[in-house]
Amino acid sequence: MNLTVKETDYYHYRDKIKGLIQAGLKAYVLTFGCQQNESDSEYVRGILSDLGYSMTENEEEADVIIINTCAIRELAEKKVLSLLGRFKPLKKTKPSLIIGVIGCVAAEGHVVERLRRDFHYVTFTLMPNRLFELPRLIYNYLDGEERTFLLDNEENHVVEALPRIRKEALRAWVSIMYGCNNFCSYCIVPYTRGREHSRDSVEIINECKELVSQGYKEITLLGQNVNSYKSDVDFADLLRMIAEIPGEFIIRFMTSHPKDATEKLIEVMAEYTPKIAPYFHLPLQSGSDCILKAMNRRYNTERFLSVAKSLKEKIPGIALSTDVIVGFPGETDEDFRGTLNILKTVGFDFVYAFIFSERVGTPAAKMENKVQKEIKSERITELLALQDDIALDINKKLENTVVTALVFGSKEKRGEVFYEARTFNNKLVHFKSDKSYINEFIKLKITRAAPYMLYGEIYIEGEE
Ligand code: SAH
Ligand code: SF4
Ligand code: F3S
Repeated sequence: MNLTVKETDYYHYRDKIKGLIQAGLKAYVLTFGCQQNESDSEYVRGILSDLGYSMTENEEEADVIIINTCAIRELAEKKVLSLLGRFKPLKKTKPSLIIGVIGCVAAEGHVVERLRRDFHYVTFTLMPNRLFELPRLIYNYLDGEERTFLLDNEENHVVEALPRIRKEALRAWVSIMYGCNNFCSYCIVPYTRGREHSRDSVEIINECKELVSQGYKEITLLGQNVNSYKSDVDFADLLRMIAEIPGEFIIRFMTSHPKDATEKLIEVMAEYTPKIAPYFHLPLQSGSDCILKAMNRRYNTERFLSVAKSLKEKIPGIALSTDVIVGFPGETDEDFRGTLNILKTVGFDFVYAFIFSERVGTPAAKMENKVQKEIKSERITELLALQDDIALDINKKLENTVVTALVFGSKEKRGEVFYEARTFNNKLVHFKSDKSYINEFIKLKITRAAPYMLYGEIYIEGEE
């Protein structure tokens, strides 16, 4: 169901809290995981500041600490528990300290139970997509020291108009859909984020118009399966509607599922390039049909290759990136060679490779034929070395060409200041300049290429 914040009990508890807290209290928000979590943390900061807290980056002076967690791999989850250990002494010295665990780990029943039972200094857990309940949980503790551990993933709502403090003034996240219905057999996300829910297109368009009028230059549409967006319009239509908003800005989106990468979507991208950035993240996961089936990915290598081909043919200069899992149960050497072959055939600009990690509650965790640890690490090393060569070959072709890029920051490297820019097709360029071009789209001539990095100089028309 799609609600506005006024239709929830948000304001009821916010107003009650206002009477309970003194001025000058501080909140610290830590974020792990994907862009969805980064975006959620912007809401959390907005809500906490609406409740009367000011933000701090110093845990020692915080009165509220919120940890926005990720559960995608085992290591991510372990990180949360060890971090909590670090906060235990803080709670000893300041008994009124509120420690809240939110994000995907807070939707895993067995971890929440452990936090409730063994981590007495944790005040509450709150699942993703229920951020509007933050005031209620804080109120429960302020009023009666009641700890709350919510776990019901079914009742997911899209709640519009929550307060938000955006981290950047140049690039903005806009969530367009939440959750996932795909149940890839290795993945925890459908269990932590619940079923797919799309926001109404009018809300999204209004938010984008507002961002453009505030001067944002890059809008990234977010969703676990951004291209399975469905409301009165589909994802391709939505992209077109956003691209029609007047203004100097570009649109990015992530993450797409190959099964929903339609020809219509590719055509809209081609029509509006570069306003719709010529970049596509197309997660492959495996280059073996047999493993893809066991992963429940709902496409085969043939379909994947045809999408990649169509993107490259129809959108000139497009960059592609992908995700790959190495060492899925039952992955043979031949299956793995299949993955390497696809990397060679497609030529991705960037590959995010992960070693398979068992997640409690997912079908893959119960599968037999586990791949040995040493084999997994050999395979990932081989894959990354191959990818480095592929990426360097692709980037070398850009040497001596002129690209347009959005300057977003600067960095000091060995005593020299470099400006940082991103091309429309998402490549990072470093260049030196006497003048700051931050916030501007500029033309750069590429002077040197590395696998994942370009170096350039300001290009002045007519000069060779
Ligand atoms: N919704 C997105 C991204 C999900 S998580 C998508 O469908 O692509 C990002 C990546 O983490 C996935 O694409 C996958 O490659 C990886 N991943 C997910 N679960 C994993 C697991 N159990 N072990 C290793 N990698 C995993
Ligand atoms: Fe996970 Fe698959 Fe959903 Fe992506 S599409 S979030 S990998 S279940
Ligand atoms: Fe992690 Fe949840 Fe994102 S598991 S990757 S924070 S959707």
